[in-house]
Amino acid sequence: MIKVENNLFTLTGDNFTYQMKVDSFGRLLHLYHGPKIIGDASSIISYRDRGFSASPYEAGFDRTYSYDYLPLEISTLGEGDFRTPGIIISQEDGTTSSAFIYKEHRVYNGSNKIKGLPSVVIEDAECLEITLEEELSKAKIILTYIIKDSSLVRGLEIVAGDKKIKLKKALYTFDYLYGSFDVTYFEGRHCSERTRKRATINTGALTFTSRRGATSHQINNGFIICDSNTTELFGSALSLELLWSGSFTFFAEKNQYGSTRVGLGMGSEFFEYELQNSSIALPELLITFSSNGFSDLSIKNNRFIMSHIRRKNLSKLNNPVLLNNWEATYFDFTGEKLLSIAKEAKALGCDLFVLDDGWFSNRNDDLSSLGDWFENKDKLKMDLNTLSSLITKEGIAFGLWVEPEMVSENSILFKNHPEWALMLKNKKPVRGRYQLVLDLSNKDVVAYIKSFLDDLITRGKLSYMKWDYNRFITDFFSSVTPAGKIEYDYILGLYSIFEYLNEKYPHLMIEGCSGGGGRFDLGLIYYTPQSWLSDNTDAIERLDIEFGSSYLYPIATFGSHVSAVPNHQTHRVTPLFTRSCVAMLGSYGLELDPTKLSEEEKNEIKFEIKEYKKYASLIKDGDFYRLLDSNEASSALCVSRDKSKALLIAVNRLSHGNPVDHYVKLNGLDENKSYLINGKVIPGSLLVNAGLLLPFTFSNDYEAIRLYIEEI
Ligand code: DGJ
Repeated sequence: MIKVENNLFTLTGDNFTYQMKVDSFGRLLHLYHGPKIIGDASSIISYRDRGFSASPYEAGFDRTYSYDYLPLEISTLGEGDFRTPGIIISQEDGTTSSAFIYKEHRVYNGSNKIKGLPSVVIEDAECLEITLEEELSKAKIILTYIIKDSSLVRGLEIVAGDKKIKLKKALYTFDYLYGSFDVTYFEGRHCSERTRKRATINTGALTFTSRRGATSHQINNGFIICDSNTTELFGSALSLELLWSGSFTFFAEKNQYGSTRVGLGMGSEFFEYELQNSSIALPELLITFSSNGFSDLSIKNNRFIMSHIRRKNLSKLNNPVLLNNWEATYFDFTGEKLLSIAKEAKALGCDLFVLDDGWFSNRNDDLSSLGDWFENKDKLKMDLNTLSSLITKEGIAFGLWVEPEMVSENSILFKNHPEWALMLKNKKPVRGRYQLVLDLSNKDVVAYIKSFLDDLITRGKLSYMKWDYNRFITDFFSSVTPAGKIEYDYILGLYSIFEYLNEKYPHLMIEGCSGGGGRFDLGLIYYTPQSWLSDNTDAIERLDIEFGSSYLYPIATFGSHVSAVPNHQTHRVTPLFTRSCVAMLGSYGLELDPTKLSEEEKNEIKFEIKEYKKYASLIKDGDFYRLLDSNEASSALCVSRDKSKALLIAVNRLSHGNPVDHYVKLNGLDENKSYLINGKVIPGSLLVNAGLLLPFTFSNDYEAIRLYIEEI
């Protein structure tokens, strides 16, 4: 998979080649990334005298050699490359010129665990490591490349020697000498995460930044670069996804000679990291390639995530169907009320009851108490241990909501440790949801969080923990960490807590959450097998969030619940069956008060939970195909890897007078097999090529169809 010959590095995956070359001046050129090739792609580089392009001194009077044009694996400032740089280093004297020259390389087996960061886990991986050295400071860049199936994982570490440097920007970049590309990105807002958008890469950089200290609802840190004619089923596309949960920057631009540069990495304008006899590892970047459109790209990418990033759920709970009390009660409950909900949840077939916000200190609204993680015995009329015992006695597991990274000004913790909150010394803090963010770059804060979590997990006998994060970082000032280091060190502090919990409590299942999907990324997925997808539980709007998220994330990671109607976010009334079908495209749960359901609704939910459990492993371990995604209707197919079973879900949005039929081609089924659908045997070739008429009755708005398909 990794071939090194005459300074030419050829990395070959199942379906792609990635090629680099060290040139005669020791610069690492990026030659090619696309469908498999053999040979040396440096043949496509044209050396010509280009107007106003500068040449490095060592090229002498050869004006045909310029970094203004050459495709580079590492791009910096001050070398005559006038494109947007990936790496900016300021030297001891404050200048920002830097030049990295090839030193050495090695090839070895096995992926490296990067200390303090999530990293891909591949037993039989082959890894290429290339070391470059910076001319002035002698700082080193260690690049790593791991190949597996259709994916490449890039890593980058910067190691400073005696000379002090400041790392101001650290993005992976990709140069393409020619071609017309689009970027697909996933934008949104709270309650409307990861909406797919597409833009053409042109002159003038298209940039996306999260400077929120977290991935954000607004723009996800996964992108797809594709040929301008790529569609769901045709054309080349590659995904770029950071294993990172903090601020990040992406850019894409076309340059004067028609070449394209794309950059992605952690950090925003707040980032500046001083190094001296020390190092910093960037989060890994997962890059998956497909020549067969977005559908194939998502499947290849998501299989990789399930096998090499998402940790196996060691919890005794197997795809637990959970009931979360947030939309059932908000802050208004007693221990007895919770018990009655949990009992009813058990009767409906749930495996787990999750107690959400409002159980601790004086937390009866969102104005206070974050940081004071002891149960409110007056409100519950019992302690946590008793509540947990009473609930688990009913035969249902117990889980608890926490928001460990936050502090309310109105709390004992803030009174005792105001210096633990991120806020400027001489300025009042910026508030978000009335709360401040704790300084996770401070080891004392991390130790405090670990200790109260130990206490809650033990006393509450927790099987599950929902980890929420309900505001972003604004005040980049810490009492212990230099301001420019906070973006990075904060996330390392967070990961160290997850690492601690994963190791100490392997059977505890943690669900990620940030006001829904504000921190939905591969960094979190490494530690938490599922994340609450969005605070928007409306079935129709959620379809869009699920479809958008499915491009770069496996649906097994989507926390997905059936909620009450009228929906609390949109006030829309949708049929229970539709809500359940939409929730099945993820990890299923309920977000309602079961004690308020009619007998008919209870029976329907019981049935739906049984159905979900039948399909759970197909949904979780199978491949997800987006079949139809329009303003009129959506449809998806979950197909087992051996293509013997599938589950089709379709939702028609509004009902129309004299409606138009909807058809889907069942991509993902085997054309050589025959399938049983609704008692009829239908050849796979017909389902894949002629397609299926979706049997909507068009008698209602928001009508759903669910069909189980099995090989016969
Ligand atoms: C935001 C989460 O996304 C909700 O599910 C709920 O846990 C609230 N926070 C509680 O404050």
